[in-house]
Amino acid sequence: MPALIVAGAQWGDEGKGKLVDHLARQAHTVARYQGGHNAGHTVVINNEKFILHLIPSGILHEGKLCVIGNGVVIDPACLIEEMDALISRGVNIGDNLLVSENAHLIMPYHMALEAASESRMGSKKIGTTGRGIGLAYTDKMARTGIRMKDIMDPGLFKERLRAALEKANRLLDALYGTQGFVLEEVFDKYTVYAERLKKHVGNAGLVLNTALREGKNVLIEGAQGTLLDIDHGTYPYVTSSNASAGGACTGLGIGPTMIDGVMGVIKAYTTRVGNGPFPTELEDKTGEFLREKGGEYGATTGRPRRCGWLDIVALDHAVRVNGLSGFALTKLDILDGVDTIKVCTAYRVDGAVTREFPPDAATLERCEPVYEELKGWKESTSGIKKLGGLPANARKYIEWIEDRLGIGADMISTGQRRDELIIVKENFH
Ligand code: IMP
Repeated sequence: MPALIVAGAQWGDEGKGKLVDHLARQAHTVARYQGGHNAGHTVVINNEKFILHLIPSGILHEGKLCVIGNGVVIDPACLIEEMDALISRGVNIGDNLLVSENAHLIMPYHMALEAASESRMGSKKIGTTGRGIGLAYTDKMARTGIRMKDIMDPGLFKERLRAALEKANRLLDALYGTQGFVLEEVFDKYTVYAERLKKHVGNAGLVLNTALREGKNVLIEGAQGTLLDIDHGTYPYVTSSNASAGGACTGLGIGPTMIDGVMGVIKAYTTRVGNGPFPTELEDKTGEFLREKGGEYGATTGRPRRCGWLDIVALDHAVRVNGLSGFALTKLDILDGVDTIKVCTAYRVDGAVTREFPPDAATLERCEPVYEELKGWKESTSGIKKLGGLPANARKYIEWIEDRLGIGADMISTGQRRDELIIVKENFH
């Protein structure tokens, strides 16, 4: 299977980093297609924790080409910081990082405008990560964005920056009465970034297509999750990119016929950070238990994650939207010792029962979960590496999910460490 997409099936933070890290061993190239440094992918190697925000976790394997695609929005300062942090911990980046010349940049005014806009929205705010992601995508679509290749050309960059600042400074002043940015200061800063990054910038789409044509394994990594997708998520409480599998083609410059499989990553329960509807949310002791035992605090912002039971209605939607060919189940060990596991199989809304995920946040807000109860298991599943080693009820839980979703579990994660993983089916050969 040369091209495999790994995408989050819930609201992000499903544990994609660890699975990508495993799959990367057999990949030639690992590519990221959307989002920005709002993402936080955690990988634990020999008890050492690596949190990556922009660079695909494939970088932790020697000699893998890691691509940041045109669909990603990049804060160059963050990218350089991440590169330096990896280098200081002995990771060899060398020529292994390729950044698309067409990727759009996050500029300082994006962050300032986002902060101002969120504070104006009060209780209706999205609860963003505050990284300027949405505003960078806004400029991209408005055709006023600045791309990686633009900062490599000082004359063109200054022209585009002047136009962008004129608008951004006026907006900041008129809407929020805040001070604007000085052209020369931003220009100088980004010119330094350009100098540092230029050796890594190139035609990523061409490189990926060549690798695929040569039959090389390409692992395609999504950030966030399906329910945060700008089109298929709980709009407006979403991120500003296509986090679902469809975004992989436009975000990398490869055609749909190149994709061989889509693995959805599903956490054994559900979490969400930021605002917006969450039907199976538990605001009780069980929710607290999941948060504490699962270490459910944002890898990027440190915010406590909202926790709840698994939601099959939402997952069915994710199976459809992504065309999932299989799934990976993560954090199964967090459910160890829970007597009765609840699973949402339908919603009760406006006097009716539905198994369809509603297309808008307002309807979802009114949905009450309809639960089925499954028996938990007492034994520890922590670190188990063979399916047969799992307690019978844990296996039943997995089989129940497979049955409901109509796809199989390819991998099951039973702990934070790299080797705490059950491989049911290898996707790369
Ligand atoms: P933004 O992506 O910073 O614009 O935030 C929009 C929404 O997406 C907010 O609810 C964030 O909490 C959420 N979000 C963004 N990135 C992630 C992530 O990596 N994991 C989980 N939620 C995220």
